[in-house]
Amino acid sequence: MEHEDLKPPAAPARELRRRSALIGIGAVACVGAVDVGAFAYVSGRATPDRLTPGRLADGFETVFGKHPGFRRNHAKGVSVAGEFVASGAGTSVSEATVFEDGRRTPVTGRFSLSGGVPDVADATKTVRGLALRFDLPDGEQWRTAMVNLPVFQDRTPQGFYDRMLAFKALPDTGQPDPEKKAAFLAEHPETVRAMELAKKHPPTSGFADSTFNGLNAFHFTNGSGGSVPVRWSMVPLQPVRAAAKGPIGRNELFETLIDAFDGGPLRWRLVLTIGGPEDPLDDATLPWPDSRRTLDAGVLTLSSVHTEASGNARDINFDPTVLPRGIAVSDDPLLSARSSVYARSFARRTGEPDTKGTVKVTGKHDD
Ligand code: HEM
Repeated sequence: MEHEDLKPPAAPARELRRRSALIGIGAVACVGAVDVGAFAYVSGRATPDRLTPGRLADGFETVFGKHPGFRRNHAKGVSVAGEFVASGAGTSVSEATVFEDGRRTPVTGRFSLSGGVPDVADATKTVRGLALRFDLPDGEQWRTAMVNLPVFQDRTPQGFYDRMLAFKALPDTGQPDPEKKAAFLAEHPETVRAMELAKKHPPTSGFADSTFNGLNAFHFTNGSGGSVPVRWSMVPLQPVRAAAKGPIGRNELFETLIDAFDGGPLRWRLVLTIGGPEDPLDDATLPWPDSRRTLDAGVLTLSSVHTEASGNARDINFDPTVLPRGIAVSDDPLLSARSSVYARSFARRTGEPDTKGTVKVTGKHDD
């Protein structure tokens, strides 16, 4: 599969490639990973109710079922590859080499839909993800996993877990239990506010014209000892179109993305937003004011799309706390939770049988 999409797009090959890319969605090989899940976000006495990485990972399996070999969340996805070319503007706030003027940094990434079902039908409202790994010199890496929401729905890992269970779709209606949902929302005004804000930023037509936001705050440090809080976003250079109204094809978002690469590379601007002294660093449900200073740090160019075979995103854990010198985590409680749960999810899926090729895709181009 590697780089086959760089070949001239003969029509039958294109159909095959599109189907192939989808057929490998989400599967992993056995790579013998070790569960390195730290547990920084839970403290206090040991009780059976204590939220642990294992319980969080179990929560995904309770809600979405068990799908061996697949990510517990964002299970449906495809891998991409390209490079980031820095504008130099980011060097004023960070000494990370990735921001040096003109530097080209290779990038491996993954587009995904939230939820733990690997062959779930595409829907415009489902949260879209873009995860990236920047490979810097000297073995340094910057990993990030972003979504197309303006803020996150939950302030704490416990809120995430409770919401996931409260919003579990009932088999008969396909909708959450109205009482459980209402009870959760009554306890979580921050989630209600975040959902209202999301309605003001409706999803765009697809992956290529989505803005992907890092949402958590990080500390950027430059070589002169300066430190500023930063949130980052990938803003599309593709024209933005409104999402389709009503249902879409089962794999339509992914098929449209794969087809878009036939027209050439896809590009996003990396925008760094510098937080002010009053801005929350430990609450991803709260937006920062629109007036905050931004820096255009460079352009991400994604030039190829692949299945999740070994060698690209299938075997990567996009742990958002893997950072180069010049970028550091904040006190946001989601970050340490994400790190430990992603590790647990990675350990489970890579320890399970290789399910490569077993996903049934029944899109209109299936043959
Ligand atoms: C406590 C909060 C969160 C929990 C428990 C959680 C859980 C997970 C898990 C278990 C995975 C699968 C990891 C793997 O197997 O590799 C995942 C993937 C992902 N998460 Fe989260 N997540 C949380 C917060 C967030 C936030 C705040 C964002 C965005 C800013 C985000 C974006 C993503 C994306 C894009 C992926 C897919 C990464 C990939 O393609 O490998 N998550 N999440």
